[in-house]
Amino acid sequence: MKKLLIFALLPLVIFLATSIQTKNTLEISEGTSVWELLKTLGEPAPNHELNPSMNDYSVEMGRVIVEDGVGAVKGKKIRLQSKHFVCTSCHNIKKEDPDLAKVDPQARLDYCAESGIPYLQGTTLYGAVNRSLFYNGDYEKKYGDLVKPTRNNLREAIQLCAVECSQGRRLNSTELESVLAYLWTIDLKLEDLNLTDAEYQKVQAHLKDDSKDHKEVITLLKSKYRQDSPATFVAPPADRKQGSGLTGDPANGKKFYETSCLHCHENERYSFFNLDDSKQSFCYLKGHFGKYSHASVYQVARWGTPPHPGKRAYMPQYTAEKMSEQQLADLRAYIESRAD
Ligand code: HEC
Ligand code: HEC
Repeated sequence: MKKLLIFALLPLVIFLATSIQTKNTLEISEGTSVWELLKTLGEPAPNHELNPSMNDYSVEMGRVIVEDGVGAVKGKKIRLQSKHFVCTSCHNIKKEDPDLAKVDPQARLDYCAESGIPYLQGTTLYGAVNRSLFYNGDYEKKYGDLVKPTRNNLREAIQLCAVECSQGRRLNSTELESVLAYLWTIDLKLEDLNLTDAEYQKVQAHLKDDSKDHKEVITLLKSKYRQDSPATFVAPPADRKQGSGLTGDPANGKKFYETSCLHCHENERYSFFNLDDSKQSFCYLKGHFGKYSHASVYQVARWGTPPHPGKRAYMPQYTAEKMSEQQLADLRAYIESRAD
């Protein structure tokens, strides 16, 4: 009789065991994807989730497009995206801010220099899929109505950049989905958010208990990183000879020059205009700094250079978020100290 009862109850026991297992118990660690975590807590999917009805894209194809601009994946050729640049000419693919909630160009410059990565005009693509607003702030002034479809659409932002920033061709749908698939591999991880122990435990408690209202913990997680990359255009100082009046720190100017300017200009990497550590480079830059000329650092740093027909490599401007007035003064001080 007892045996019979056990057999009768067995299906119930199995059912209970499996239903407990399939309940949301995401084990978190430093490497957990922030998006996986938010999804588990009930956050709705962004519109740049990968398209489940497509199957011919790949992370590898996306990586090749972003880092090399041309190549082949599994025997399939990828046509050159741009004659002038690759995405990594202007964007990092690693974390570049020590605190993702703050916009602080000096903290970013220090962090990039320490990490051995360049400091660039475009925002890092690391964590791009965790953002929800693109081409923010003053980019509307530069690209006009072109930014409208990109504001809350990462696919459109990539296409605009492929054509306008990279001065190349639009990606086809397989390539675009591949770039997106690659970007999903460089999404934010829990360790990037620098949670305190108490915050970490709070997240864990919420994951274990679905009866809790997760809104508050979702807001907490999202307060640890920016959902947008703001952009403010600034003009060069009104009097270029005088400059901004700030006293420059040559050591910091050296850091900027080497981490940022040389990334594109050393050995004419992405520009026909060569810059290096020679006196000649510094004399040229010093000579034009205070002038109203295409070769003035004030001019190119704040307005960029325009792409000319036939020679479409151009220099992207530095917004206030990418170069502070102080950093510009530091750069001038460094250049002048090396030209003497
Ligand atoms: C010549 C420089 C340059 C190149 C090359 C370039 N970009 Fe950009 N990109 C920028 C700048 C400058 C912005 C302005 C907004 C920002 O990044 O802060 C931008 C914006 C973006 C944005 C929106 C970012 C945001 O948060 O607003 C994405 C996504 C993007 N680019 C992807 C790409 C991809 C993918 C490629 C390669 C196909 C590429 N870019 C090539 C300079 C460049
Ligand atoms: C993302 C790549 C990139 C970065 C970073 C960059 N530049 Fe440029 N720069 C260019 C390109 C491209 C041109 C266009 C000229 C060409 O290729 O012939 C240019 C043009 C210039 C010119 C104008 C040259 C002339 O005679 O017309 C100057 C000066 C200059 N850059 C200085 C700098 C300085 C200083 C920095 C650092 C603050 C810097 N650049 C950072 C890509 C870059």
